Amino acid sequence: MKIEPSLKMSIFEPAIFGDLKAAAEAKKATGAEVVDLSLGSPDLPPDEKVRQALSEQSALATTYGYTLSGTKRFNEAVANYYKRRSGVTLNPDTEIIQTMGSQEGLVHLPFALCNEGDIVLTTNPAYVAYDAGIKLAGAVPYYMPLRAENGFLPNLDDIPEDIAQKAKLLILNLPGNPVPALPDATFFDKVVAFAKKYNVPVLHDAAYSEYYFEGDSPSSFLSTPGAMEVGMEINSLSKSFSLAGARIAYIVGNAEMISIIKQLKSNLDYGTFEPIQEAAATALDHAEEITDRLRKEFTERHRVLMNGLENIGWSVTPSSGGMFVWAKYPFDIDDKAFVFKAIEQCGVVMVPGSIFGTEGAGFVRLALVQKVEELQKAIAQLRALKI
Ligand SMILES: Cc1ncc(COP(=O)(O)O)c(C=O)c1O
Repeated sequence: MKIEPSLKMSIFEPAIFGDLKAAAEAKKATGAEVVDLSLGSPDLPPDEKVRQALSEQSALATTYGYTLSGTKRFNEAVANYYKRRSGVTLNPDTEIIQTMGSQEGLVHLPFALCNEGDIVLTTNPAYVAYDAGIKLAGAVPYYMPLRAENGFLPNLDDIPEDIAQKAKLLILNLPGNPVPALPDATFFDKVVAFAKKYNVPVLHDAAYSEYYFEGDSPSSFLSTPGAMEVGMEINSLSKSFSLAGARIAYIVGNAEMISIIKQLKSNLDYGTFEPIQEAAATALDHAEEITDRLRKEFTERHRVLMNGLENIGWSVTPSSGGMFVWAKYPFDIDDKAFVFKAIEQCGVVMVPGSIFGTEGAGFVRLALVQKVEELQKAIAQLRALKI
């Protein structure tokens, strides 16, 4: 039998993570110490109360049916969390939809709002799932560059008029992956004005909303005046609550948009396992205490890695949040070749910036997913690097 992938499969770039892992394993096999800063998978365990809730609920005989969508308990926990954290009032019945991790929501969402050939405004670099969703829906990405001169924020004024007129969705991600930029005081106001002027729904991916290092928490996009009229926020329990494997997230915001996504979702799945929803609701109920611990740890990790890299001559993008360090290395070499050399020579695993878009060339992404001692080890190993 001859098996051929569909034409749509050509959308997907071969993932580099398998090759990075193989190179890291080969290095380990030589007896060398390897520090893996590639995947953004939280290393901290979920809070004990959260694990307890999961275990108690899964011991019940009554929690194994289809849930279809978010339970009342989960949706109310999301609404309460948004109220406490951002002062945003959400109707749990009409303004919240659960997704099986935010990747699932991100990849499916363009199907709900875009037709073939429609334009979706996204950034370069960006989290790779946006492109997958846009292209699977037959829509066309228009990339807004993220550059140092704009504080790594997209400049909406640079979008050509004809592109803005045709856009059917605008995707943003702050603090971002791979660039950990945060919005300045007026950025979201400009986004709302743009969305209203051109009638473009906005999706803000807030996966790293609890990763900030100093000062007040970055505001939710939905707390911007007018944002509920034009958009949604997608957030995940994966990063802020260390529940990446539990696959639970949610989209909140404009009721009409949520209702379209609900219709799509009712054809895709039968909802998340009830004990996971209960565990997630418990995490949201205790968000302040849980994420406070996270921030203390990540502030220190960020400080150590940023200072360490700068001491060895790297240029680190300044940031006051996010789960990653975005850095330019001081060698004249392509970023993909560079990361494999770095693994081979010194056992530090990083992600080449260009996998997130052409603007990422010459950068690498380092995830803050190891303890401070490991990060110090990584710096010492990188110091010895010779290209
Ligand atoms: C910006 C961003 N959004 C969404 C996700 C997906 O996370 P999850 O599907 O675990 O919610 C990731 C994962 O790395 C991410 O970096």
